[in-house]
Amino acid sequence: MTSSSWKTVPIQSSEITPKHLYLRRREFLKLGTVGAAAAIVAACSGSADSTSEVLPSATRIPQIGKDEYGDPLTPYEAITNYNNYYEFSTNKEAVAKLAKNFQTRPWTLEVGGLVAKPRQFDIEDILQKYPQEERIYRLRCVEGWSMVIPWLGFPLAKLLKEVEPLGSARYVRFISVARPEEMPGMRSSFYPWPYQEGLRLDEAMHDLTILALGLYGELLPNQNGAPIRLVVPWKYGFKSAKAIVKIELTEQQPQTFWNLIAPHEYGFYSNVNPQKPHPRWSQATERRIGESGRRPTLMFNGYAEQVAHLYSGMDLMQAY
Ligand code: MTE
Repeated sequence: MTSSSWKTVPIQSSEITPKHLYLRRREFLKLGTVGAAAAIVAACSGSADSTSEVLPSATRIPQIGKDEYGDPLTPYEAITNYNNYYEFSTNKEAVAKLAKNFQTRPWTLEVGGLVAKPRQFDIEDILQKYPQEERIYRLRCVEGWSMVIPWLGFPLAKLLKEVEPLGSARYVRFISVARPEEMPGMRSSFYPWPYQEGLRLDEAMHDLTILALGLYGELLPNQNGAPIRLVVPWKYGFKSAKAIVKIELTEQQPQTFWNLIAPHEYGFYSNVNPQKPHPRWSQATERRIGESGRRPTLMFNGYAEQVAHLYSGMDLMQAY
């Protein structure tokens, strides 16, 4: 099968989420996704031709307000008040308040390195130009919890194709903004700021990899990485860098924030792998936020059918 198994589901946007969230969706449209209305109402839509694909199994078709396993969306309040964002705080429940006044306009995203057409994108142009799709993805944090989040975004591949990667480009580096005057967590000199992450070019070009600009039908709240963040659903949450200002294509594997801090704990790949324990925690199970018990963690966070081929021939106990 091809990289995408997302199915366009023709539904009314008012059916996707409860009413108050539907209103937020309207606000999002008003705020800048002109021309995106047709795409935004399609839950979990992939590329236009993906609708004709054979899905892995009937039970895996995403339903309204649920992921393709039938798991319900994590409530908006939980997604926006339990955040990892070390530039603001290491206390997950403190981030939302501390990030409240963070300035996300004006915002420029620079895309360069080994590309034929390096460019600076204004965030407003990105919102206008790339139709936003709703993608309901599970986010699995290495700390052992998970959420189901209805992102609004577009495939990173679209942006990368526009700058025309050179043949020598093999990796993609993502750099988050560093503004100590607005980000109190950056006072800690223990961390190797700025936050940075990396993907192999084929991972970055995969249809599941998106740049997200919103969630639950509204623009991204600051604490979730406004105005633009990466989402790579088959990898642990820390790969999904927030508030990105620079994307650079490179020949060498880029350094990553967590790999610099603890290389024996955080490898470059960071695929969700229940068989490979983190030195301090088992990764075999997870606690879905809002649930009391623990559930088994799925290989590649449940996206194995779409992404396992990217790693054929690799020993994923070594390439963790
Ligand atoms: N991006 C930046 N710039 N700074 C961070 O501290 N934390 C990461 C990732 N992206 C982080 C970041 C981690 S550990 C996780 S689990 C996710 O963001 C959390 O995203 P969420 O708060 O939207 O759930």
